[in-house]
Amino acid sequence: MTDDSVARAAELLRQGELVAFPTETVYGLGADAANPAAVAKIFAAKGRPADHPLIVHLPGADHLGRWARDIPASAYALAAAFWPGPLTLILKRRPNVPDAVTGGQDTVGLRVPGHPLALALLREFGGADGGGLAAPSANRFGRISPTTAEHVRADLGAAVALVLDGGPCAVGIESTILDLSAAQPAILRPGMVGAEAIAQVLGAAPALGAGAAAPRVSGSLAAHYAPRTQLVLVPGDGLPIALRAAIAANEKIAVLSCLEQPLTHELVVWRRAPAEAAGFAHDLYRNLRELDALACARIVVQRPPQTAAWRAILDRLQRAAAGSG
Ligand code: TXA
Ligand code: MG
Repeated sequence: MTDDSVARAAELLRQGELVAFPTETVYGLGADAANPAAVAKIFAAKGRPADHPLIVHLPGADHLGRWARDIPASAYALAAAFWPGPLTLILKRRPNVPDAVTGGQDTVGLRVPGHPLALALLREFGGADGGGLAAPSANRFGRISPTTAEHVRADLGAAVALVLDGGPCAVGIESTILDLSAAQPAILRPGMVGAEAIAQVLGAAPALGAGAAAPRVSGSLAAHYAPRTQLVLVPGDGLPIALRAAIAANEKIAVLSCLEQPLTHELVVWRRAPAEAAGFAHDLYRNLRELDALACARIVVQRPPQTAAWRAILDRLQRAAAGSG
C-alpha cells in the first residue's frame, strides 16, 4: 500500500465518500465523522439501524478534547496504556459531534486504532484539523466482521469508494468497549484488552456487561456476528458424539476445534484452530466465513474455556450461535 492510496483515500473521505480501512481488530467502514451526509452512507451501505452509534477513530489521544468533554483523568491513563490499540472509550460528547454518529446519545465512542495504515490515513485525514473517522465494522449489519480486504469486497462491494488493503487483522475480533461516561466504569463489549488489564490502570475493577438501558451497543444484541449456517457450541469431549450423530443422520457438518480430529469421514470437515486465545481470535472470523461457505447442516465449535483470556471469544461465539441459521 503506497502513500498515494492513503492520500487518495483521505481525499475521497473529504468529499464525503466511504473508504474501508484495516485496523488491528477488524476492517472499518469509514466516513468523515463531522459530515452527517457521509455518515448516513455508512448506515445505508451496512443496512444498519440509524440509532446504533458509531465509534470515531482518531490519530492520537491528543485529539480527544475535540470530540469529548469532562474527560476523566482515567481516560488519559487508559489511552497511555492501550492506545494505539483495541480499546474504545465511551465519553461525554461535545456538542459538535453529529447525532448521526452518536445515535442521538449524550456520549461518543472514541478509539485510536493500532494499525499503521489506519494511523497513516487518520493523520492524513485529520491530523491537522482534528478530524476523525466514524467507522463501524465493514460488514452488512448482523453478519461476521471482516478481517481481510477480500471480506469487505465480498460484503459491501460497490458501496465503498475504496478499500485500503492492509492484510489480515492482527487481533481479529472487535475492540473492548469501556464506558467512562458514568460514575462506575463498565465494559459494554469484551475484547482482547481484558478487564484485568483495565483494572490495573483504573485501580479498581470495571463493571462487566451492558447496563440495564436500551440496546446502546449493537454488539450487545444477542443475535450478532452470525454465520448463515446454524452454529452450535459443544464441549471438547462432546465432539465425537456430535460427529457420530451427524454421520448417522447423513448430514455434512463443519467443526472448529483446537483438538485433533477424532475420526475422518466424508461428511465431516474439521478445521483445527489455534489452542491459545490470541491465535484463536486472530483466525476466528475467517474460519467462520470459510466454514459458512461450505453449506453444511451445522458448524460445531468447541466451547472455549471459561477463563478471562477467552471471555471475548466466548462472547462472540455465543452471539454467533444465537443469531445463526
Ligand atoms: O474494533 C472495533 O471496535 C471496530 C473497528 C472498525 O474499530 N469497530 C466496530 O464498530 O466494531 P461497530 O460499529 O461494529 O461496533 C461498535 C459498537 C457498537 O455496538 C455501538 O453500539 C457501540 O460501539 N457504540 C458506539 N458509540 C457508543 C456510545 N456512545 N455508547 C455506547 N455504545 C456505543
Ligand atoms: Mg460491527
